[in-house]
Amino acid sequence: MKILSFGSLNYDYTYEVEHFLAPKETLAAKSMQRGFGGKGANQSIALARAGLLVYHAGRVGVDGQLFVDYLKQNGIHTDYLIKDNATATGHAIIEVCRGENRILIYGGANQEITTEQIDQTLEAFAPGDWLVLQNEISNLPYLMRAAKKKGLSIFFNAAPYDASIQTYPMELVDVLCVNEVEASALAGAETFEADAVLNLLHEKYPQTRLLLTAGSAGSYYLDAEQRLFVPCEKVQAVDTTAAGDTYSGYFLAGLCSGSAVEQAMRLATKAAGIAVQRKGAAASIPEIEELK
Ligand code: RIB
Repeated sequence: MKILSFGSLNYDYTYEVEHFLAPKETLAAKSMQRGFGGKGANQSIALARAGLLVYHAGRVGVDGQLFVDYLKQNGIHTDYLIKDNATATGHAIIEVCRGENRILIYGGANQEITTEQIDQTLEAFAPGDWLVLQNEISNLPYLMRAAKKKGLSIFFNAAPYDASIQTYPMELVDVLCVNEVEASALAGAETFEADAVLNLLHEKYPQTRLLLTAGSAGSYYLDAEQRLFVPCEKVQAVDTTAAGDTYSGYFLAGLCSGSAVEQAMRLATKAAGIAVQRKGAAASIPEIEELK
């Protein structure tokens, strides 16, 4: 079984602020940090640090060699990562205030993924392999359909949410990972209540295994056979950036290693609990040894 993570790569610029920016305001940041991120890359790093062999497919720009090297240093295969000199690598501007964040992304090369790149990449994968996705790259509906046609299982972290997700072939998704905002929007619920929203999603996507991360309120799981809840560990959050990506990567790593769903949720909860105590995105994701 191989894991293909087809996803975004962003250079993250993180600014620690006293309060989030208001309209017309100019604010001096307390500190600034540059690092590697992008929900796709973060999920790949989490899977790799959990001990799995990951193939990362995606696109970086003319400034992307540093990113390719970073993935390689983390033991990730980069043969399906295209360096496109006609564009720039995606980036994110992140405000962090007392552990919470606000993120502005610029897609850059992440939005230049073509159907040709998808077809060529999928040639190397076969039934039983996993495709890991997020919502920061172009041509996702095409990618989902092409991967399913080849017999791959699909893990989709529906982040960040935008209305176009409602037009995706969601019935092809095997495991759907959502946070409170994404879950409510996808379910069409006006208020968030975990079990109610999960029930709505289950009615909408009966074949899909649903994973809901609710930050410090814990995580939930629902499929045709079981409903689970795992509470969060009480920790002091310094920066929650990439906590969801860490959770989803570690959860899938647990499943792929043969763990039961609840065990995979506990592993993912522990990993995310460590990530929020550290600054940055990819840099905050723990190695599996740190969880023991
Ligand atoms: O989930 C966190 C990530 O969202 C950041 O690394 C940023 O690049 C954005 O993609």
